[in-house]
Amino acid sequence: AAYRRELVGSLIHDVPDFPKPGVVFKDITPLLASPHGFQAAVTELVTTAPRQIDIVVGMEARGFIFAAPVALALGAGFVPVRKPGKLPGETISESFELEYGFETLTMHRNAIPADARVLVVDDVLATGGTVGATAALLQQMGAELVHVSVVMELGFLGGRARLAEQGIDNFSAILTV
Ligand code: PRP
Ligand code: MG
Repeated sequence: AAYRRELVGSLIHDVPDFPKPGVVFKDITPLLASPHGFQAAVTELVTTAPRQIDIVVGMEARGFIFAAPVALALGAGFVPVRKPGKLPGETISESFELEYGFETLTMHRNAIPADARVLVVDDVLATGGTVGATAALLQQMGAELVHVSVVMELGFLGGRARLAEQGIDNFSAILTV
């Protein structure tokens, strides 16, 4: 709903020159600290989710915050995508270039049943590197990526087009700036 999107947008603050000069950081901590704001964001993610999601995948660290309550609300399981060296089992990994620096993401190889319908949830889509690597991890394990949802999309960075090139067009954002 429009009032929820407006509330969510008003609680994500721009921080210029963080973590380095020229980057405008999107600070979600005011949103998380607001009971109504946090609830509104999760409700929007839940209501835009396709039917019959079995697993919600969230990416360390900020993706966890939104993906876990969405999983509970949908009656789905939660599976983490983690930074290297954190998962104890056999892992698969994907590396990519981030808005600032390089990153590798990992996942337990057997984390998702072959026939599961998967929703990916993160806080922000910037260049699309994080979601792209997550989609590649799911592809490696043969899981069905049904939908990708984020709280905020930075449209000027072209993440959505990059995902489309990778074959991911089932994407939605609560807000696009
Ligand atoms: C941020 C954000 C997204 C990602 C978006 O995560 O939480 O996951 O960047 O950028 P991209 O679309 O260019 O990949 P970050 O890697 O900074 O780490 P964090 O979630 O652990 O704070
Ligand atoms: Mg992140």
